[in-house]
Amino acid sequence: MPPSMLTINGARLTFESGQTILEAARGAAIEVPTLCDYKGTIPSGACRVCVVEVQGARTLLPACATAATPGMVVQTESPRVVAARRMVIELLLASGNHQCLVCEANGECELQALAYRYQVETPAFANPPDTPYYYEDDNSMIVRDFSKCVMCGRCVRACNERQVNQAIAIGYRGAHNKIVARGDYPYINSDCVFCGECVQACPVGALLDKQARGRGRPWELTRVRTTCPYCGVGCQMDVLVKDNRIVKVTGADAVPNDGKLCVKGRFGWNFVHHSDRLTTPLIKENGVFREASWDEALNLVASRLREIRDQAGPDKIGGWCSARVTNEENYLMQKLMRAVIGTNHVDHCARL
Ligand code: SF4
Ligand code: SF4
Ligand code: SF4
Ligand code: FES
Repeated sequence: MPPSMLTINGARLTFESGQTILEAARGAAIEVPTLCDYKGTIPSGACRVCVVEVQGARTLLPACATAATPGMVVQTESPRVVAARRMVIELLLASGNHQCLVCEANGECELQALAYRYQVETPAFANPPDTPYYYEDDNSMIVRDFSKCVMCGRCVRACNERQVNQAIAIGYRGAHNKIVARGDYPYINSDCVFCGECVQACPVGALLDKQARGRGRPWELTRVRTTCPYCGVGCQMDVLVKDNRIVKVTGADAVPNDGKLCVKGRFGWNFVHHSDRLTTPLIKENGVFREASWDEALNLVASRLREIRDQAGPDKIGGWCSARVTNEENYLMQKLMRAVIGTNHVDHCARL
């Protein structure tokens, strides 16, 4: 057998040097279930959901954290593997308060999907009923519910390796293991910058987008791809909409951001439906605003701009645009200033 070949489920496959068994399997469209594995981060082998049987190995091995080697013979769904996975899933379910019916993650939870796939109905183990679980609901963006945490560590790797914010870590030891933010403070008192990458990485209902809570099940939401308007990076985002109202925003797996967003892109959208928004043009007369029609307001603005330009020159006019309108509208604004008014005095609130 050439040095870059292994056998998975009876199929002889090539793999590249440095690939794991999981990567080799995925390269051949062989699906191995995972939970702690997270794109763009170093595998930790924490959850053991991805265990596979390797001929000659004494124990089952985590596919995500085991290097593929030439001549390896791997089984990904043997009876021994399936029994081990069922046990892992039972232990994870038993480690917390998993009430799927009322859980916000119902329908997109990866643990729930694994339980369904391996038909784990009732965990054979029980947690002590008085197990204390940490619950944090004191900021406006992220809820942390550790009764659902399966200690996969994806949030930590997403924060530290993908966003490089270094705000959270796995704290304490053994059964007291817990995700901690700078000395185990609430996010709001820690180094957390509320980018929400940990929320996006969490495979269960332990980290939640607070604004989306109770506002729609995953299957009720329509996904709309758009570009974040807040700055020149142009991150791609998916806006999840129900009944024509935004429920939440997630990063899209596309260039330039590869799924990542900052606090503004992910959480700064509630101005869209805000009740304080102006819906009618206002004209100020004698220090007091009165409602006007669009035609009246636009005619007034156009005539005043023309007057100023003709009397004082175009550079006496400056245009400010906003991150809370679309990129296309920002483009039109600078076009209006440069091509119609004749000035380069144009700027954007994102620079403030
Ligand atoms: S986190 Fe997943 S498994 Fe746990 S209650 Fe929620 S949906 Fe169910
Ligand atoms: S919100 Fe961002 S900075 Fe804060 S813990 Fe999560 S990933 Fe880290
Ligand atoms: S909070 Fe979520 S992502 Fe973080 S360790 Fe717990 S289950 Fe994993
Ligand atoms: S996905 Fe491999 S150990 Fe968790």
